[in-house]
This record gives sequence, structure tokens and C-alpha cells, in this order.
Amino acid sequence: MKTIGILTSGGDAPGMNAAIRAVTRTALQKGMTVKGIYKGFNGLVKPTKDSESIKSLEIRSVSDIMQKGGTMLFTARCPEFVPIEGVRKGVQTCKENGIEGVVVIGGDGSFRGARDLSNEGVPCIAIPATIDNDIPSTGYTIGFDTALNTAMELIDKLRDTAQSHDRCSVVEVMGRRAGDIALHTGIACGATSILTAENDSYTVEHAINRIKSTKTGGKHHFIIVVSEGFTAARHIDANMIAKQIQDDTGVESRATILGHVQRGGTPTLRDRVVASRFGYRAVELLSESKGNMVVGLNRNSIVEYEINEALEMKKNLDEELYKIAETISF
Ligand code: F6P
Repeated sequence: MKTIGILTSGGDAPGMNAAIRAVTRTALQKGMTVKGIYKGFNGLVKPTKDSESIKSLEIRSVSDIMQKGGTMLFTARCPEFVPIEGVRKGVQTCKENGIEGVVVIGGDGSFRGARDLSNEGVPCIAIPATIDNDIPSTGYTIGFDTALNTAMELIDKLRDTAQSHDRCSVVEVMGRRAGDIALHTGIACGATSILTAENDSYTVEHAINRIKSTKTGGKHHFIIVVSEGFTAARHIDANMIAKQIQDDTGVESRATILGHVQRGGTPTLRDRVVASRFGYRAVELLSESKGNMVVGLNRNSIVEYEINEALEMKKNLDEELYKIAETISF
């Protein structure tokens, strides 16, 4: 394979730039040409004539990006790439630009695009990158650690004000349908209760009961971490939860939705290192003429699966972590 493309797709995640850098430099070291495809699959489906959507990347094109959040290649969700006509248009764009294989960096929606493009004759390797950590085929997705640290710092700040006022702070964190961000930040911030879509035993009523019992034990301020999957599944929002808690417990309550701030910022060491490892392995696979695969991390070793196999896997929230949270947060 002489020329490969690289794109980032779906929601941005801190560490995507480190993956772009690793892919570019590994491929250049192997004597390949690298083309950056801009704005996700849009760069393939809707290429512009002014060569703004596909540009060659050299060693220095990826200098000074590792420490930056976001993605230098921009990103997008691309509904036009779902129907087969869109995929075939992508194949044609690859051919016109001499692109023989593509590294796709993103979440499971991006994996489907990578699979479809592979099936139409352009081998792709997918790299899991999303703050949600919601991809069953890998123990870790690029961006998760940075998002956790951002959320943790913000919840710590909320604790300062909750403590000063003897209040309850209800904090909604991101994660789409997954509760990983909620569970990890909940433990790290000593949340009184952690509500996720995955664990039915942890309801608003459960949180209220824990507030009441810990209050009896001398606790005066409370953090309740809620995943956005929990609020979406129950058609409620953080303000409604805060009101319910205040009405039932008498503890003054405030709601905060952390939102997109969790997606930004300087990637942590873990995100940079994992991204570099994934990027390096993705190019190795393409150079071995392998495609239709996704890389991942299992007990700190790099693993790879066929994309379809990866998409069929299931993942549960770690029950042990729930047990730990329940035991130590009083
Ligand atoms: O997948 C990452 C994520 O930030 C989710 O946590 C969240 O549900 C979603 O993307 C938000 O998407 P958008 O940026 O399109 O609003």
C-alpha cells in the first residue's frame, strides 16, 4: 500500500491529534504517502474542488498538535455516508486521490463507515476515539481519561460551593447511553449516588434515601452524579432531579449540566500514549494489507477484531465499581 488516508469522524475527543500524528509519522517512516481527509466522511462524499477536503500530510504537518484537544482534521457526523451511494462516492474519491486504505478515528458510528468502505474495496482500520468509552471491543477509547479528569475537576469545584451552603449538587455528565463517565467521576468525587441508564437499582428514590441516611450520619452536602443516558431514558433532566431531591429531603439542591466542556482540553498522558499505540498499529495492519478491522486495548495489550465482530460485542458497566462506590461514599 503506497498511499493511505486518515480521517476523524463523529464527536471529537482529546487525543485524536496524537493518533493523527502517530498514523502520519508511522506511515511516512514506512515510505507511504499520507493524505488527510477533512471533516470526517464528508471529505470523501462531498469533496471540494479547491483541494480543501484532502491534503497531503508531511512530517511537519503534524508537529505541535499532540498537546491540543479537538482534531486538526476537523470532524463531523455524515448521514450521506450511510446509504451505499454515499459509500461508493467515497470509493470514487479515494481512487481519484490514489488512496488505497484509510485509517478512521472515531466511535462506533465511524466504525460502520469504515466497514462499509472496506466492503466496497478500500481497506480501513478503525481506531476507537470517544470520550464515552462505550465501545465493547476495547477496554479503552481515546479521550475518556481527559474527559474524566475535566469532569472530576469541575465536580470538585461544585463540591466547594455545595459544602459552603450545605447543598446537594446534581451533576449531569456526558456519555451518550453509557454510564462510564458517571461511574468513574462519581467514585473519584465521592458522589453520594451515581445514576446511570445501565443500573436499574440506582434511581432518584435511591439517591434520596441515601441522602437521608447519610444526613442522619452527619453528612451536610451531597454530590449526585447522573449520566445523560439516565436522564434521556427517563425523560427527565438534572433540574427535575434536583427539585425532587429538595422537595423530598429538605436539602437545598442545584443542578449543573457539564456538557461539551468535557470534550475539550489538553489530552492527558494516557490519551496521548494510547492514541500513539493505536495509530502505530493501525498503519502496521494496513501495511500488511489488512482491512475491515478495529484496534483496541485489552489489559494494556493492543488487540484487533474484524469490525463486524467488534460491533456485535456487548459491554456491561463494572458492577464491582458500583459496589465500591456504594461502600465508601458515606
Ligand atoms: O459521543 C460523544 C458525545 O459527547 C456524547 O457524550 C454526547 O451524547 C454526544 O457526543 C453529543 O453530541 P453532539 O456534540 O453532536 O451534540
